[in-house]
Amino acid sequence: MTDNSKLMELAKEAAQLAYAPYSKFYVGAAALYESGKYYTGCNVENSSYGLSLCAERNAISTAIASGEKSRLKKIAIYCNNRKMCTPCGACRQWIAEFAHDENVEIIIEAEDSHCLVFTINDLLPHSFSL
Ligand code: THU
Repeated sequence: MTDNSKLMELAKEAAQLAYAPYSKFYVGAAALYESGKYYTGCNVENSSYGLSLCAERNAISTAIASGEKSRLKKIAIYCNNRKMCTPCGACRQWIAEFAHDENVEIIIEAEDSHCLVFTINDLLPHSFSL
């Protein structure tokens, strides 16, 4: 199995843990770091809808809370009921924060179920940084 399809499998497993009683949109993310370690996350919703946490930010937070110090290499995103599930704007900015360069890969599931790869520069050119 390639790196990308392995990462997508991990994202798919993570999606099964999602807490999404409101949208029923179960999302999983799996992030691979330069250390070789993987971290996963799922979306966590709240009855105050705006407080919901996306799967991508959950995975990245888990990496940080686990002491990961290397840069993000790639992140796969899987949704139970939607192909072509690209990250929301907030998650793109989070990915950019931890990306080692503008070629960090974002892997999503295409309509034909194959992995489709974008770079963070494709999805968020000219991202904000301090
Ligand atoms: N969601 C994610 O987990 N990642 C995204 O990039 C977009 C949206 C979640 C948030 C919410 O729980 C559900 O999908 C519907 O918006």
